[in-house]
Amino acid sequence: MSMQVTCHTGGRTFSLANPVMSAPGGVGNVVEFRHLTDLTKLGAVIPNSLMNQDGAPSAATKFCCADAGFISAYGANNISLQNFIDEQMPLLPDGPKLIVDLKARTMAEMAEMAALAAKTKRIDCIEINLICPYGTGEPAYYSDPDKLKRLVGGVKDVSGGKPVIAKAPGGDFSMRYMAEVLQESGIDMFVSFNCLNGCSIDIRTRTYRCGAGGGGGFFGAGIKPYALSRLREAASAFSIPVIGAGGINSAEDVIEYILAGAFAVQIGSANLKRPDFMEKLLVDLEKLMNELDIHSLDEIRGTAKVAHVDAR
Ligand SMILES: Cc1cc2nc3c(=O)[nH]c(=O)nc-3n(C[C@H](O)[C@H](O)[C@H](O)COP(=O)(O)O)c2cc1C
Repeated sequence: MSMQVTCHTGGRTFSLANPVMSAPGGVGNVVEFRHLTDLTKLGAVIPNSLMNQDGAPSAATKFCCADAGFISAYGANNISLQNFIDEQMPLLPDGPKLIVDLKARTMAEMAEMAALAAKTKRIDCIEINLICPYGTGEPAYYSDPDKLKRLVGGVKDVSGGKPVIAKAPGGDFSMRYMAEVLQESGIDMFVSFNCLNGCSIDIRTRTYRCGAGGGGGFFGAGIKPYALSRLREAASAFSIPVIGAGGINSAEDVIEYILAGAFAVQIGSANLKRPDFMEKLLVDLEKLMNELDIHSLDEIRGTAKVAHVDAR
């Protein structure tokens, strides 16, 4: 039995020791969790989204709990990509692949950061965050096919052959459109879900509970059926590998995502409930694969069938 997952994309073979990776923000910049859990066995780690300058977080409340998930509105809170590389990357454990998720205010900024990531040996893949341009109030590039192609093309041109991943923007979008334009742009992998838009009000103070604009990104256990169906749509619309995300809280959830067609999965808010969540998840996944007689995740990928009832 092996938890290794392998795919072919952009003319190369890409493997992970297992399909489990941290989602941007799920474990901060990863280094904060290195004494809380064994990160060495993960398939890949992704620090919180990085920008080209240190962030200046707003004074608004950043986070709140919802009934079946969480609402997050961290904004530009992180250190810059350069500072991450200089100060935090050297503290990361060996083992998992390192993917950096990049947020940018302009296309030029995105390409500049991608070039820095490409020349940094420890970084294995570059993830373009499609919430772009970030924080400028302009319409998202992804809604204009030419702009989306230029955004991805600018990163591919400087990526030095490293795989380039696009991560879904928040909210709803047409999966068919995204697949068509991103694949024409030469993207290597796609993450099918980021978050839905969410808000919550404290009725006693009549105040939105978080976010500079009164809301943020909603994710967590409650969105799993929606996020799983988005992964299924993505697996059918894209011919490149797709990475699932959204509501994953158990080894059973991971198997569901693989059966629906995911190459790998990103884990976000489950890490907030227990910092050693992903370490435990890998133990549970191995046990579950044995119980279900699954020898290889690559063999079961996308094999979920539709249930039929006898209508007579
Ligand atoms: C505390 C926290 C901060 C996050 N920050 C970011 C971020 O900066 N950029 C981003 O693309 N996603 C961010 N996310 C969303 C995750 O990357 C991921 O898309 C989402 O958490 C997946 O759903 P799940 O939490 O149900 O696993 C954050 C998630 C959490 C829990």
